[in-house]
Amino acid sequence: MRPTLRRIKIVFIALPLLSLFLISCTLSEESRTTTSRSTKVYIDKTKGQWPRRNLIKALQAFEREFDRIKDQRQLVAADLGAGAGNETIFLIEKGWKVIAIDIDPYSIETINDRFQELQSLQGDGSKAKLGSLDARLVSMQKMVLEPFSLDLVNASLSLPFVPRSEMKEVWNNIIEALRVGGVFTGHFFGSEHGWRNRLRMSFYSEKEIYKEFLDDYSLRIESFSEMKSDAPTAAGGTVFFHTFTVIAQKTDDHYKRNTRGMNPY
Ligand SMILES: C[S@@+](CC[C@H](N)C(=O)[O-])C[C@H]1O[C@@H](n2cnc3c(N)ncnc32)[C@H](O)[C@@H]1O
Repeated sequence: MRPTLRRIKIVFIALPLLSLFLISCTLSEESRTTTSRSTKVYIDKTKGQWPRRNLIKALQAFEREFDRIKDQRQLVAADLGAGAGNETIFLIEKGWKVIAIDIDPYSIETINDRFQELQSLQGDGSKAKLGSLDARLVSMQKMVLEPFSLDLVNASLSLPFVPRSEMKEVWNNIIEALRVGGVFTGHFFGSEHGWRNRLRMSFYSEKEIYKEFLDDYSLRIESFSEMKSDAPTAAGGTVFFHTFTVIAQKTDDHYKRNTRGMNPY
């Protein structure tokens, strides 16, 4: 091939392909139109499981405060990357309004079905007062949450699926959406995690988690723990899990430093 022809080929074929690749790497996904196979396997395997320990622990730690609020109005939570909806349904059974967010249509379909089932059981005379569901097919990167509207944000094993470059914005959004006194509980993956080379996920050391997500936000840390162990994955096989579990409360200090005059109450 003549050198000029080769150059033209590079310009007209390779460069557009490269820019398309770069654009797809930098644009975050809004939501999926089709279900990812691994998510479906995960959801089918985990559906109906007991809610994760971090959520139970957070509800216990702030039980008195949540009970006090419950006497005045409905408690509101967001369940981010809700998966099979185990925690969404658990909170709804306790009377909470839950905004369930997931990028995958199978998750949202599963959660809506489970909620309908719950409602039909209620029709059979069950006495417990159910909360309500607002299930949204959207990514954490694109979700819109009203500032100071949430008593609880639960992000169990979901934040690590947000690429590192997009985490800060998601975190700002989460903290802004919590009311003063509201509680965050969720996981980060550690830098020794077996999936640490996956590009579209995020992994942090303990120091980085404090520096990027906790210290600057004036959060009161209720509990911070680290876990390292081999664990089975829903898709089969095992992977080395390195996980940090956080329970933290938004304080008034965050309001004073960051809200530029918005009313937090
Ligand atoms: C490992 S599962 C965890 C599900 C559930 N929270 C649990 O503890 O079992 C991760 C979930 O996050 C969802 N997810 C992944 N990336 C997401 C994103 N960027 N925005 C919203 N949801 C996402 C997946 O579809 C999946 O349902």
